[in-house]
Order: sequence, then structure tokens, then C-alpha cells
Amino acid sequence: MLVKAGPTEEPIDPVRFVGNRSSGKMGYAVAAAAARAGADVTLVSGPVALATPPGVRRLDVRTAKSMLEAVQQETDGTDVFISTAAVADYAPREQAAQKIKKSAETLTLELVRNPDILATVTGRKRRPFCVGFAAETENVVANARAKLEAKKLDLICANLVGDEHAFGRDDNALTAIGASDENDLGHGTKHELAVRLIELIAHRLESQA
Ligand code: CTP
Repeated sequence: MLVKAGPTEEPIDPVRFVGNRSSGKMGYAVAAAAARAGADVTLVSGPVALATPPGVRRLDVRTAKSMLEAVQQETDGTDVFISTAAVADYAPREQAAQKIKKSAETLTLELVRNPDILATVTGRKRRPFCVGFAAETENVVANARAKLEAKKLDLICANLVGDEHAFGRDDNALTAIGASDENDLGHGTKHELAVRLIELIAHRLESQA
């Protein structure tokens, strides 16, 4: 099983970056639950302040580009890919070699689209069972369903994010959406939800076999 977790950091200059509020807790909980269930787990991780779960092989990355490279190297031989990472959708076009000094009153950063890591995996001829996470601030289920279809996923976990929800917290609420069904995994700690998600994936794989 391959799990990618945490945020990515897209450098602006040697001391600054474009990032997001992902703590990595959901992805680390998923990796831990999968390893406890007996899976052979590789965790591709953005910069987070979390300990590696027991029995999990961890590869550290920083940018979306380096996360893509690590995922591409690890995809062959993977049965299940779980994409919990909050990948930066855009990165600064250029990284300044030196710290940008404040002189002008305004500063404009030009951002360019990053590759969609999950879509590159689902676009492969031989692909693992792919699970996405949809971080939404509104229309959670409808937006998640649109991502399930657009990215050709087997399953997507929809979660509400924002000041009061998900990011950095120990609890969450998830709905796992497939092409023809919807499973409310309820509210709970990220560890509890991770166990429920791994059970659901195991059932799916069993019924496909
Ligand atoms: N994802 C990815 N690579 C990206 C962006 C997203 O692999 N460059 C993956 C995430 O890990 C997640 C899923 O795609 O599993 C959905 O991510 P999300 O941020 O919710 O959606 P986006 O596709 O980025 O769409 P938007 O930001 O417009 O909501």
C-alpha cells in the first residue's frame, strides 16, 4: 500500500514558501491502521511534525514535484494507493536565489499549476485501487463526487475543512463515496476513521477478487 500525506511546500525564496494547513494526521493514521492490519506500507510524506508509524517505510519530500517523483517510483507493485496529501495546486514560477527584500509596497507572485499526482496514477494502464481525499469548504459530497469521476478514482473520502474542521485536529468526519454507493464513516478520531476506511477498502478488494 502506498499512502501520501501532509502538505507540500513550494519555495518562494530560501526562507519562504507557499503551503497549506495540512498536518498529515489523517494520512499518518491511515498508514498506521493499514500497517496494523498487515499491509506492507510506504508513506510518502510532505513536511510534518509527526513520528513515523511502527512498521511503515517513510519517504520524505517537500514539493509537489518531488512528491510526484517519489509516488511514480513507488507505484509499480502497489495494490492500493491512498492519496491523503494536500498537494499545493500551484507553485511560484521562479524561486529567488536570495531572500526577497522588502522594497516595493506590493509584491506579485506568479504561480503555475502543479501536476495532479493522483490523476497521473489513475491514468496508468496498470493501476492500483485508488482512493482520493476531497478537502472541501462547501458542497462537500457533490464536489467530492465530481473529483471521483474526473480523476477516475475507485473511492473518494469527502471531508469538510476550514477553521473549525479537519486541518490540524485529531478528529474528523468522513464520507467514502464510490461510483454507486456512499458510506458514512461517521465522526471520530482520525485513528478511528482510518481503521473504518481500511476495513472498507479491504471489503472492496475482497468483492473484486
Ligand atoms: N491531488 C493530487 N495532486 C494535486 C492535487 C490534488 O494528487 N496536484 C489529490 C489529493 O491528494 C486528493 C485529491 O487529489 O486525494 C483531491 O484533492 P483536493 O485538493 O481536494 O482537490 P483538487 O483536485 O486540488 O481540486 P480543487 O483544489 O480545485 O478543489
